[in-house]
Amino acid sequence: MTELAPEVFQYFSRLIEEETGILYDVDNAYLLKNRLTDLAQGLGMQQVSELWRDVQSNGLSLAAKTMLFDLATNNETSFFRDRPFFDYFRRQVLERSQGAQRPLRIWCAAVSTGQEAYSLSMVLAELRAQGINLSYEILATDISPRVLKQASTGIYSQFEVQRGLPQGYAERYFRQEHSESSSLPVYRIHPDLRTAITFQRLNLLEAWPNLGLFDIVLCRNVLIYQSPDNKRRTIARLAQHMTVNAYLVLGDAESLAWLSESFNLEQQDGARIYRLKGPQLSP
Ligand SMILES: C[S@@+](CC[C@H](N)C(=O)[O-])C[C@H]1O[C@@H](n2cnc3c(N)ncnc32)[C@H](O)[C@@H]1O
Repeated sequence: MTELAPEVFQYFSRLIEEETGILYDVDNAYLLKNRLTDLAQGLGMQQVSELWRDVQSNGLSLAAKTMLFDLATNNETSFFRDRPFFDYFRRQVLERSQGAQRPLRIWCAAVSTGQEAYSLSMVLAELRAQGINLSYEILATDISPRVLKQASTGIYSQFEVQRGLPQGYAERYFRQEHSESSSLPVYRIHPDLRTAITFQRLNLLEAWPNLGLFDIVLCRNVLIYQSPDNKRRTIARLAQHMTVNAYLVLGDAESLAWLSESFNLEQQDGARIYRLKGPQLSP
């Protein structure tokens, strides 16, 4: 099968959109075909045509669905991605450290392999080393169990550690370990940075457990793959989980234009932050 047959494209793209919100349109059918080839091979089959025959006779097992949704996600991330935001975050923490009454609550709502959450922890650890001590909690969620597994072990390859970390941080916040699968070493995050973060599977499209309210929500580079309706719904739900004056951070290429009127855009030194306007209805 060189091209995906229309019925195969339709079946899988609809299933993926219903469950994850991720849109595959005909222009990126080749991407879906690559994902389905990986799925077929992961299930011990040679080709997508074999997978399709099996689906028609037996449907898709739960394990195969989980694997499909995992493969359908783009997990691209790096430490300190979109750096100006982390500088903004540092300034905000400095302001808040004067008289904070309770721990700062942060939610990374599509954390992928964890670099985003650990970058926040590193900013806070740097401040602590300067005597500015702020208690905080980070909830880090993602739909994909595979990426969450790496995130929660906090082990990164040399390539991953070389992407985005400011100078000196690899030595300060990671321990180099021998890898069993490669001649290159791996890097394990310092346990103190790990313990302040709770990793949990959460699909933004499904019902959420009781999460409480957050002062900062990072929902970066995930809504970009979703339909306008799903984006609107997710933004409205995120707003209900935010404290007054809380802020929402999207990816650099993302915007709330046409999606929500509940936020004001604040721009500072290259960082683009959305501040919640007023009290929201409780979730
Ligand atoms: C491109 S990564 C972004 C990672 C990080 N936020 C960043 O900006 O570097 C997108 C992440 O969103 C997750 N994702 C996709 N659909 C999701 C959904 N419906 N609910 C929760 N996470 C989802 C994917 O598994 C992936 O790890």
